[in-house]
Amino acid sequence: MGVEIFSLEGKTALVTGASRGIGAAIALAYAECGADLALAARSTGDLEALAGKIAAAGRNAVPVTCDVTDPASVRACVDSAVAGLGWIDVLVNNAGGNRFMTPVVGTRDEGWAKNIRLNLDSVFWFCKSAGAHMVERGSGSVINISSVGGLRGSPALASYGAAKAAVVNLTRSLALEWGHAGVRANALCPGWVRTELNRNLWDNPEASAALIGAQPIKRWGETSDVVGAAIWLASDAAAYVTGATILVDGGQTA
Ligand SMILES: NC(=O)c1ccc[n+]([C@@H]2O[C@H](COP(=O)([O-])OP(=O)(O)OC[C@H]3O[C@@H](n4cnc5c(N)ncnc54)[C@H](OP(=O)(O)O)[C@@H]3O)[C@@H](O)[C@H]2O)c1
Repeated sequence: MGVEIFSLEGKTALVTGASRGIGAAIALAYAECGADLALAARSTGDLEALAGKIAAAGRNAVPVTCDVTDPASVRACVDSAVAGLGWIDVLVNNAGGNRFMTPVVGTRDEGWAKNIRLNLDSVFWFCKSAGAHMVERGSGSVINISSVGGLRGSPALASYGAAKAAVVNLTRSLALEWGHAGVRANALCPGWVRTELNRNLWDNPEASAALIGAQPIKRWGETSDVVGAAIWLASDAAAYVTGATILVDGGQTA
């Protein structure tokens, strides 16, 4: 047995938040491993640019404009992915982010609700819609991008941390509900990865040094650091892995 167990040849994947950052890196890596892709986000131009790169690499890529905070848009996205690809083998729920940093007492209810909708409700809607399709087909792999922020307290980021923690628990419940049907569900928790999401931190030498200095691997993670685990979880190499929480965090939580 060799590296072919990591191949995604003949598989299809729907990646949300594929217009930039971690999602774009995962989508491109999946294509390089042989998968055809559906690419979801709001920024249509960026999705089309990535679809062009994937097509140049010889794979099919379907850009799908989608707002993951709108359940109707999520359902339409899954329908478009199935129509464009024929079926979905792999779902990566990666779209997400944090809109503000405020202690709990100062957090407005609307702000709390927005972060929960973006980081948790969206994952539920995608899992429900694409999961039904996978269970009916009798195979699939769902990878929910959580965060180390969901595994430990997150001062001034409580709504984000609570949503990401709930994603881990939702993933475990899905693993229990779907295991018999051949559908796996795992959570992938990145640590500090240098993207637009946290430019304010890595662009600030003092804030950056404080964060990175506190972890064993003393550098920011790059999007390329996350793709290996995402490929593994999507592939047959992880055929016996479900309900797991995989950390890619430079040892931050050790
Ligand atoms: N970077 C880190 O250090 C880190 C650490 C732990 C976890 N994470 C998680 O990793 C995931 C990706 O983060 P990132 O760092 O790559 O962030 P990013 O560079 O800001 O990318 C976020 C992606 O999510 C999409 N998105 C945001 N809101 C959306 C909406 N309403 N509808 C559809 N798509 C939406 C964005 O696309 P559009 O704007 O085009 O819609 C974009 O493609 C997130 O879930 C984040 O919480 C990141």
